[in-house]
Amino acid sequence: MSGIASSQVDPFAPDFLLNPYPAYEALRALGPVFALERYGVWAMAGYGEVEPALKDWKTFISGEGVGLNGMNPALPKPLTLQIDPPDHDKGRRVLGRTLSPGIARKLRETFQQEAEKKVSELIDKGTFDAVTDLAEAYPMKVFPDAIGIRPDGREKLLAWSTFVFDSFGPENEMLAASRKAGLAAQSWIMDCCARDALRPDSLGMMIYQAADDGEITEHEATHLVRPFLTAGIDTTVNGIGNTLLALATHPDEYRKLHHRPELARNAFEEGLRYDSPVQTFFRTTSRDVEIGGGVIPAQRKVLLFMASANRDPARWDGADRFEVERTATGHVGFGAGIHACVGQMIARLEGELIFSELARRVKTIELTAEPKRRLNNSLRGLESMPVRVTPA
Ligand code: HEM
Repeated sequence: MSGIASSQVDPFAPDFLLNPYPAYEALRALGPVFALERYGVWAMAGYGEVEPALKDWKTFISGEGVGLNGMNPALPKPLTLQIDPPDHDKGRRVLGRTLSPGIARKLRETFQQEAEKKVSELIDKGTFDAVTDLAEAYPMKVFPDAIGIRPDGREKLLAWSTFVFDSFGPENEMLAASRKAGLAAQSWIMDCCARDALRPDSLGMMIYQAADDGEITEHEATHLVRPFLTAGIDTTVNGIGNTLLALATHPDEYRKLHHRPELARNAFEEGLRYDSPVQTFFRTTSRDVEIGGGVIPAQRKVLLFMASANRDPARWDGADRFEVERTATGHVGFGAGIHACVGQMIARLEGELIFSELARRVKTIELTAEPKRRLNNSLRGLESMPVRVTPA
């Protein structure tokens, strides 16, 4: 790895994951690219490198897997995320239509009613766990309802996606711990993706409509419903949870939001920049890449620290400050380029509605005990966050 700086750091170790931000600063200082000796991979942590790499899908490919260990050849080829053009385009087109801004507009009214219900219930309680009672409860209600899946057994959704996101990292204790519950949920997840398990007039059935129209096969439709369940829940749960924690620990910023609830969408966007739910994804080089005075050879894994790019002071003024009025557009919390999150309109809708409802009806949010982290190889989120709210 001559000509390129290297680091002994383990970005998947518990002490790193508990608070990765000081380590990100040190990694950015190593230069545009560095080697992670422990895993024999390359990595980038600055915005100036991560964002262009995400967009350069021809050089930094996803089809060899976006995790450390590549794809399991025994499994069927995915139709999204871990696939390159031209094969990527078909699934992306179908998912993009299902999760479009127009669909988000249609879902707004129901999502708004649920946000009102949820916030009323929490105000009545006064003290509660902001992770289980809010950050998990709201997305776990509105999004699976929209997909059209059954109400019972939804706790399996979190077990499944926690496992999938852990499996993008190394074989470590976290992955071992989430594998058992994840695999136990797998058959329930696949049952939920079947045509006859979905409510008519749901997002899931829109995917099967594409099969009826001959755009995709029936088998492909089943495998395109699954990413809803894998990528659409834990990410949003952690996005809402992390933003809530930022608001609870920055009372001046919460006050601004309380006085101007129309900032809610912006505040959520800033939350995704400041404490990104998806911290990292891998790519594989399709050719030798000259960078930072060295060369990453072809066919090597490169870890992209998106959450570090979102805190890079070369891109963001006061990068480590959480500011609800900041223009956070351009953050890579949803990725960038052809794989940029296809569910971002839905995630933003959920964030906007729950935070504007809170902002309107809650005067203060304060922690009543230390929040507990839930460690994961790719996701950053919380296990619990006890809070007290005072009504407006
Ligand atoms: C892609 C984050 C919500 C479905 C991505 C990527 C990121 C991301 C970083 C890029 C992956 C890459 O470049 O390799 C998030 C965050 C969310 C969120 C932070 C919530 C705050 C959702 C929702 C869905 C979803 C609600 C709905 C189904 C997907 C899919 C892809 C993706 C299918 C793959 C797109 C492709 O390969 O073209 N997401 N996501 N995500 N996301 Fe999301």
